[in-house]
Amino acid sequence: MTSHQPRPATAHRSSGLSGSATIPGDKSVSHRALIFGTLAVGETRVTGLLEGEDVLGTAQAMRAFGAQVIRTDRGAWTIHGLGVGGLMEPEDVIDCGNAGTGVRLIMGMMATCPISATFTGDASLRRRPMGRILDPLRLFGATSMGRDGGLLPLTLRGAADPVPVEYALPVPSAQVKSAVLFAGLNAPGETVVIEREATRDHTERMLHGFGAEVAVEDLPEGRVIRLRGRPELRPQTIAVPRDPSSAAFPVVAALIAEGSEIVVPNICLNPTRAGLYQTLAEMGADIVHDNPREEGGEPVADLRVRHGGTLRGIEVPPDRAPSMIDEYPVLACLAAYAEGDTVMRGIGELRVKESDRIAAVVAGLRANGVEVTEEPDGMIVHGTGKVSGGGTVATHLDHRIAMSFLCLGLGADKPVTVDDAGPIATSFPSFMGLMHTLGAGIEAA
Ligand code: S3P
Repeated sequence: MTSHQPRPATAHRSSGLSGSATIPGDKSVSHRALIFGTLAVGETRVTGLLEGEDVLGTAQAMRAFGAQVIRTDRGAWTIHGLGVGGLMEPEDVIDCGNAGTGVRLIMGMMATCPISATFTGDASLRRRPMGRILDPLRLFGATSMGRDGGLLPLTLRGAADPVPVEYALPVPSAQVKSAVLFAGLNAPGETVVIEREATRDHTERMLHGFGAEVAVEDLPEGRVIRLRGRPELRPQTIAVPRDPSSAAFPVVAALIAEGSEIVVPNICLNPTRAGLYQTLAEMGADIVHDNPREEGGEPVADLRVRHGGTLRGIEVPPDRAPSMIDEYPVLACLAAYAEGDTVMRGIGELRVKESDRIAAVVAGLRANGVEVTEEPDGMIVHGTGKVSGGGTVATHLDHRIAMSFLCLGLGADKPVTVDDAGPIATSFPSFMGLMHTLGAGIEAA
């Protein structure tokens, strides 16, 4: 593993952001497109793939398991898949870098194949819990050996004789749900996953698209997903929609920088992902959804965002958390510019993301003169409409902490610095260039 050189960046108060913001492909869909392509027999074609470090790591991993993965043009990739159960044993350690989604989904994918693989990642990923994946994968018959507490690096030995599983998710996690479903693909019979709260459903949509027998039912105990194992997956052509979680940054930037008006075209507004946009509307933000339509099985619209009016603090309903789980850091930064308290609860999962995002946001806001109350599974931002700024934010190898606080700086009296903008390349490599084009005063320090 190479050592990481921090690259600080600073955001200055800016006004009048304008233009059209091109957002890269959705990270969740991009990881899954590469994995499904590997599990289908024949050639899957993908356009609009996110070419960020996390997804490139998954592409490399799919090659290590024997798939032919070829980049044909910008964002255009083909995958010659091996079929469910056709994976080969990697010859070397799989390094998933910063990518929790990558490593967890890949472990699920191989857990019911009679091969072993060793996984590792960067300092952030090596701190993140893998027990939540290993517990259900053991039920299929997989075994693992790693550091205490289920931490990477670890070696997973897939089940030679897998059995199907019924699993109720103990935490609302699309990664855990997806790992179980990927493992279920190579188990004979029916694998069942029950989730109390609906999490992002890209895996279910793609299982259906690739021809697996999958049924989803809303029952009193939650969403029940039934998957019939050992299907022959048919290769697909996939147009990856643009990432609503990445779009959140220019959208919030335009709501912070006075006199802004921007357009953000083609954003995926899948209801399991769009909670932030509902929250922003409740705060009084001026965002119009133009041209709503369906593309590649996902609802899509062009967002028109205008700065103006006073934003109000609100209480975000805790049951909305799964549909905006990655957006709380940037929402908390915006909340500093709203009048009154923004209450965010039921978000304990934020503590096990790329960083402890509750702790990182609280520390970053306080360093910039914003009052905030920390709770075990939440935070309350006491917004006054003004941010003094002048602080340096510790980003802990977390791309979303870096981008959120660069947005905070666009309205602050004094510049806001983040200690490391390098990890932004994991999910949004064009972020700095795009913000510059829109007129934001963000620069490498
Ligand atoms: C993801 C699920 C979420 C999210 C992550 C991407 C996915 O994680 O935070 O950025 O693609 O399945 P959890 O499953 O841990 O909630």
